[in-house]
Amino acid sequence: MGRQGLRISRAADGAALVAVPLGGETPLAGGGRVCDGLAVNDHRTVNRVTWDERAPAHAASPEYGVERFVADPEHLSEVVRFDLPRLGDVSGLRGVHLQCHIGTDTVSLHRLGARMTGLDFSGASLVQARRLAERTGAAVDFVQADVYDAPQALGEAEFDLVYTGVGALCWLPEIRRWAEVVAALLRPGGRLFLREGHPMLWALADPRPDGLLAVEHPYFERPEPTAWDEPGTYVETDVTFTHTLSYEWNHGLGEVVTALLDAGLDLTMLTEHDSAPWDALPGQTVRDGHGEHRLRDRPWRLPQTYTLQARKRG
Ligand SMILES: C[S@@+](CC[C@H](N)C(=O)[O-])C[C@H]1O[C@@H](n2cnc3c(N)ncnc32)[C@H](O)[C@@H]1O
Repeated sequence: MGRQGLRISRAADGAALVAVPLGGETPLAGGGRVCDGLAVNDHRTVNRVTWDERAPAHAASPEYGVERFVADPEHLSEVVRFDLPRLGDVSGLRGVHLQCHIGTDTVSLHRLGARMTGLDFSGASLVQARRLAERTGAAVDFVQADVYDAPQALGEAEFDLVYTGVGALCWLPEIRRWAEVVAALLRPGGRLFLREGHPMLWALADPRPDGLLAVEHPYFERPEPTAWDEPGTYVETDVTFTHTLSYEWNHGLGEVVTALLDAGLDLTMLTEHDSAPWDALPGQTVRDGHGEHRLRDRPWRLPQTYTLQARKRG
């Protein structure tokens, strides 16, 4: 799963797997390569197939903890539990979770009282999400669509809350288009809650034996994606995947903020975190009791994720 998967996939012996450059003219030292000449639809198809194949393995993994949702009606995903101090009261809000994957965070928001819809382009992910909702008795709608088509699929100005992140924006080529989608979905006064991998983290090379953090990949949005060929995923699984290719884009923090301001939202929170809910730099991090991973050595050197909130004007 590209950057995210690469950084948390492990071989059987526990070592981090190294992404295999696809070849071409300019393979990058940290894995991946810059790739142009592909239509966006090709990127989407390649990424969707890769996500489809991984969804059942994710649903069966201890990391996503599906059985914990079934066993305990109060259980929340670790991601949403981390968000609680910043999320505020969502009860009664009409919310949409963009790029909801297998629905664990969506169901968690439902359990906090929001009336949730989840949207994802991966049909196989939504099979798992619907199964989770059914098994937990959660009244959540799941809709299959590309995130850029969300206003057409769900209606405009229908939502009080757009929730998204944790490995979502990196799959989208244009952050400005995404911000326009968020603005279109929200009613005036509605808010966006985004917790996402920090673009500085995405820009780093894979962990080096000497422990140095090296900047290797784009920090700013580039028109061309970075391609990854990576056999694993970011959960523990014995499944062997046949679709290993994915395409990703980074979006600088200023680009995200400016895109939202230009789309008609006002920034109300921007907090950088020294941790991530996945092991982004295997061998260099420690996991706390809440599922968050930090650099073992001077964690204050690196923002790994950020939470951003913004409100639609009007
Ligand atoms: C890492 S998950 C993020 C969700 C959540 N953080 C989680 O881990 O459950 C990324 C999701 O984005 C979805 N996705 C990627 N590109 C998309 C697109 N263009 N439109 C809609 N969904 C997309 C994938 O299918 C996948 O389910």
